[in-house]
Amino acid sequence: MRGTDTGKHALADVNVLSTRGRGHGEHRGGAHRESADGLGVGAVDFGDLRRLDPIDRRFGFDRGLCIDRYYIEAFLGRHADDIRGRVLEVADDAYTRRFGGARVTRSDVLHLEPGGARTTIVADLTRGDPIPSAAFDCVILTQTLMMIFDLRAAVRTLHRILKPGGVLLATNPGISQISRYDMDRWGDCWRLTTKSARRLLEEAFPAQHVEVTSAGNVLAAVAFLHGLCAGDLAAEELEHHDPDYQLLITMRAVKPQETP
Ligand SMILES: C[S@@+](CC[C@H](N)C(=O)[O-])C[C@H]1O[C@@H](n2cnc3c(N)ncnc32)[C@H](O)[C@@H]1O
Repeated sequence: MRGTDTGKHALADVNVLSTRGRGHGEHRGGAHRESADGLGVGAVDFGDLRRLDPIDRRFGFDRGLCIDRYYIEAFLGRHADDIRGRVLEVADDAYTRRFGGARVTRSDVLHLEPGGARTTIVADLTRGDPIPSAAFDCVILTQTLMMIFDLRAAVRTLHRILKPGGVLLATNPGISQISRYDMDRWGDCWRLTTKSARRLLEEAFPAQHVEVTSAGNVLAAVAFLHGLCAGDLAAEELEHHDPDYQLLITMRAVKPQETP
């Protein structure tokens, strides 16, 4: 019964796509009843994933290392040498300590609101007044840009507060559930792509000083949306890179040295 209904809906959806046109040849010319793998409509075995509630609504946190954190930690590990001198991180200093270690001479923690045990700067990155200019060798901005509606203003502040030669290491979701905790406070506003992330950063940093990449693939994305954790996938499944399934966007931008 369910299979029949699903098949009807799927066929109807395909017809809607065909009628409206999506601008791509493969979507024109009538209904497609099989994917390239030969799986007929209604024949896909969703197994444990055939459910309307995710397996874990907390990003997989209750199961183990979250899949986005797996990619975030790999990114920070690759750029650990950038985490040195005076470092600013948002909300806490966990990544500063873990990846910067003894290279860090001073650690600052920025929070939008006062009260955090490790907070040293209370500021809104879109205004940024209390944050000193040209002060930081590195800013670690993991999973924060999506909370900020005025992304351009935040990027201008990030550029301003970096020392010449200082490095911004940022990550943002590309494919993710909403963070309900953040949504109900400052807002969960944006998902980025490699294209929008690069264009955004290039408004403040020279293009040749900006590196943007993505991590993830369709399996990692489905697993992440269901709240499965990194331990639910094999290493080669996590590491497979499909640029059309951008689970996480990673950004590195360097403020140029001042020219004499
Ligand atoms: C999910 S936390 C990200 C930081 C954390 N270290 C991490 O890796 O998940 C999101 C943070 O964004 C901060 N935030 C939201 N809007 C902000 C703004 N306009 N300026 C500065 N911080 C902001 C919130 O205070 C919150 O602590």
